[in-house]
Amino acid sequence: METIVNLCKSRGFVFAGSEIYGGMANSWDYGPLGVELKRNIMNAWWQRFVTSRGDMVGIDAAVIMNPKVWEASGHVDGFTDPLVECKKCHERFRADQIDVAKSCTRCGAKDGFTDPKNFNLLFKTFIGSTEDSASVAYLRGELAQAMFVDLPQVLMTSRKRVPFGIAQQGKCFRNEITPGNFIFRTREFNLMEFEYFVRESEWETWFEYWLEEMKSWLDFCGVKCEHLVFHEIEDGERAHYSKRTVDIEYLYPFGQKELYGLAYRGDYDLKRHAEHSGADLRYTDPKTNEKYLPHVIEPTFGIDRTVLVTLLEAYTEEEVSTVRSTSGQVEESETDKRVVLKLPKALAPFKVAVLPLSKKDELSSIAGSLSGRLRKRWATDYDETQSIGKRYRRQDEIGTPYCVTVDFDTLEDHAVTVRDRDTMAQERIAIDELEAYFNERL
Ligand code: GAP
Repeated sequence: METIVNLCKSRGFVFAGSEIYGGMANSWDYGPLGVELKRNIMNAWWQRFVTSRGDMVGIDAAVIMNPKVWEASGHVDGFTDPLVECKKCHERFRADQIDVAKSCTRCGAKDGFTDPKNFNLLFKTFIGSTEDSASVAYLRGELAQAMFVDLPQVLMTSRKRVPFGIAQQGKCFRNEITPGNFIFRTREFNLMEFEYFVRESEWETWFEYWLEEMKSWLDFCGVKCEHLVFHEIEDGERAHYSKRTVDIEYLYPFGQKELYGLAYRGDYDLKRHAEHSGADLRYTDPKTNEKYLPHVIEPTFGIDRTVLVTLLEAYTEEEVSTVRSTSGQVEESETDKRVVLKLPKALAPFKVAVLPLSKKDELSSIAGSLSGRLRKRWATDYDETQSIGKRYRRQDEIGTPYCVTVDFDTLEDHAVTVRDRDTMAQERIAIDELEAYFNERL
C-alpha cells in the first residue's frame, strides 16, 4: 500500500490535498495523471453501461436536494454507524470495526469505551443566511435517490419501458467516523451507480444478470478474480432498504473489504417517496395498462476504490537485463528492476509517448510535430529529457502502453521505433503508418 501511495504522490496520480497548509486528514486530490485515469474509468463505465445499451439512460442531478428526499428515503433516521469513544483519549471508533473488549488502538488504555450510539453519516448544511431548522439541508449521501425522485420526468421524456435503468456518476458525502487507507474511505468520494427497474417477479433473474456484468467490468479493469470475494450479506446486516445484497469485496493490502455492492432494493424507495410526496410513481405497462411500482436492482461502483484496485492490480516489479552499448560495442550487461503499471490500455492516462533520442533540432522538430499529430487521436506525452532508458522507465511507471522513439535513422528512413510497455519488444514502423498501427492496438 505504501508503495502505491508513494508512486501516486511522486508521479502525480493522487496526493494529499491542501498540502501547503499542512494538508487535511483524509483529503486527497487527483493530479494530472490521476484525473486522466479516473476519467477513463468513468467514461468506459458510462459507455459500457449507458450509451452502448438501449435500456439505460443517464442523469446528472443536484448534490443538494430537497431535505424531504432524505427523510423519505430513511437516511435522516437510519443512515447511521455505531460510534464508541475511548474513555481515556476520547478517540472515536466505529463499534463494528474494533474489539471493544480490548485496549484502545490509539492510546493503549484499557479504560474501556462508551456505549455505542448511532451516529448519522449525512453531512448537514444550511441553505441561505439563516442557520435554523427550517434551512437545514444535506449533501447527498448516495446517488440513488435522484434516480427515484426523477423517475416520472425520465419516463415521460425518454419513453423507456420496464426493464430499464437510470445511471449517474458524481460526488457523494458521508461524515465517516473512521476514514482512512488512502482513497479507500474518505468523507467525499466519487460514485457511479444505476437503478435498474424491473417487474417484481423478475428480480432474481436481473440480480444474477447484473452480478455477472459487474464481474465482467472488473475483468475489463484488470482485476483478477482470485482477488475478489462475493459476500452474501445476511439478514439484519443489510442497509435499511435492501432485501438482498452481495458485497463484492477485494483483498486489499490492508485486508478484505468492500469494493462494490449489488442490492435488491425492492420497491422500498419508490413506495416511500410516493407516500411522502403524494406523487403517483407507478409505472403503466403500455400493452396491458397495468399500473405498478417497479422493483429495483442497484449495482453500485465506488470510483475511488476502482482507481485504487486498478493501480494495485497493475503495479508490477520486474527484473530486466539491460545491455548498454557505445558505438555498437556492448560495454556492460546488468540486471535491474523495472516498475511497470500494466494498466488496461483503455484506462492508461497516456496511450503513447514520443521521445526524440536527442534534443538536437532535427529530431525534436520531427518528434514535436509527430506528438501533435498523434495527440489529436490519443493522449500523447512528449519527453526529451534524460537518457532514453530512463525515459522508458518513466513511461513504464505511469503505464503508457507505447513509446515512439525518433532517432537519427528517422532522418533517413522516415520510420520510428515503437516499444511495447509489457513485452519491451521494439518494432520499426514508418511514420506514415503510425496511425494505422495504433488504430489496431489502442
Ligand atoms: N446507493 C447504494 C450505496 O451508496 P454503499 O455500499 O453505501 O451503497 C456504494 O456505497 C459504494 O461506494 C461502495 O461499494 C464503495 O465502493 C463506495 N464507498 C462507500 N463509502 C465510501 C467512502 N467513505 N469512501 C470511498 N468510497 C466509498
